[in-house]
Amino acid sequence: MDKLLIQGGKRLSGEISISGAKNAALPILCAGLLTAGDLELSNVPHLHDVATMLKLLGQTGLKVAQDGERVTLNGSAITKLEAPYEMVKTMRASILVLGPLLARFGEAKVSLPGGCAIGSRPVDQHIKGLQALGAEISIEGGYIYAKCKKLKGTRIVTDMITVTGTENLLMAATLAEGETILENAAREPEVTDLAHLLVAMGAKIEGIGTDRLVIQGVPELHGAKHAVISDRIEAATFLCAVAAAGGDITLRNTRTDIMDAALDKLREMGLEMTIGTDSIRAQMHRRPTPVSFRTTEYPGFPTDMQAQFMAVNTVADGASRVTETIFENRFMHVQEMNRLGAAIETDGNTAFIKGVEQLIGAPVMATDLRASASLVIAALAARGETLVDRIYHLDRGYDRMEVKLSAVGADIRRIK
Ligand code: EPU
Repeated sequence: MDKLLIQGGKRLSGEISISGAKNAALPILCAGLLTAGDLELSNVPHLHDVATMLKLLGQTGLKVAQDGERVTLNGSAITKLEAPYEMVKTMRASILVLGPLLARFGEAKVSLPGGCAIGSRPVDQHIKGLQALGAEISIEGGYIYAKCKKLKGTRIVTDMITVTGTENLLMAATLAEGETILENAAREPEVTDLAHLLVAMGAKIEGIGTDRLVIQGVPELHGAKHAVISDRIEAATFLCAVAAAGGDITLRNTRTDIMDAALDKLREMGLEMTIGTDSIRAQMHRRPTPVSFRTTEYPGFPTDMQAQFMAVNTVADGASRVTETIFENRFMHVQEMNRLGAAIETDGNTAFIKGVEQLIGAPVMATDLRASASLVIAALAARGETLVDRIYHLDRGYDRMEVKLSAVGADIRRIK
């Protein structure tokens, strides 16, 4: 299993190019199931989760051609309407094939995802929504069996805001008969990016970017070209790295208009930023000011940045409080950060952090994707050597993070 060896204490300096967003690319790849035409995608990030999704889609009969960050999909010969347990257990986003397969072929068999490191993460809202659209759904032997003659548009109000739930229902509704209204829809920029692609494929969607999506079903969708949106979480992760370790870096290929919550908190921490049209220059010349926050749905503070901001708070000049409201078990990084000398206590879904002057390197273990990124940030700020184990989590969602960090002066090496 690969590990990362990091010698902390180096200031960061130079440029980093931000990749396409994982959480936009995954649903967008699944949209390839909705049409017999060619989907020509660019800015597709180089990630394990993308490779897993392409493998899963390939098994259905979707034709996949990949050339670097360009991926072309063709869904004219799909025969296997299934997502097996072996794939779903490694990547929950596999559930995103359910809506498209059902809507286009009237049938799908998708393994139920199990629990996961950050919470129980049920998919009841996906199922409830598809049933409202007229699907017959049964669960047997750990599989969701879904069937329908033709989905029929209706009004769906989800019990809570769900990102992949909205995406699944949105994709399904594009091919349903009549009008579907999705109330309480997720407004995350990744949902919006998927909606823009669907419109380019011939879907009729109103209210894009709002919590009320109105979809007029069409008989079929056609091929389209689309560039995946820039990864706001990757960009904010590198900004946290410079906030914790100090230095002067410039991020390229960013979308600063979708990063307000994170940028506001980084400014509060003392990060000096010059925002360009698609770039951010970030300078940090002092100890960070602690920031307190609660995670919420977009446009609020993203749960996918909670751990990385906590890493900066561990070395901040004072105390802070972080509350996680989206997932019930997303503090697995706390114990690992405390092994580096951080002073964090938790009470339920709130963490209380007392900033320390200096973290000290130690062996630590990554437990999920964003927790792994937070440990890398803490290690960059720490004195001495940190060995981060189980970085396969990191590879799932960050495009060659150690290569990008080395290029800006971090002492970070992958050990096979
Ligand atoms: N929920 C339910 N029932 C459902 C769906 C969701 O109870 O049917 C609950 C979840 O358990 C959770 C909350 O609703 O407590 C929100 O979950 P959501 O469905 O929005 O999460 P997701 O769609 O499974 C996506 C991202 C996550 C990100 C969350 C929240 C993808 C592929 N994944 O997950 O990304 O944390 O939205 O923004 O888009 C990551 O990239 O590290 C990551 C975990």
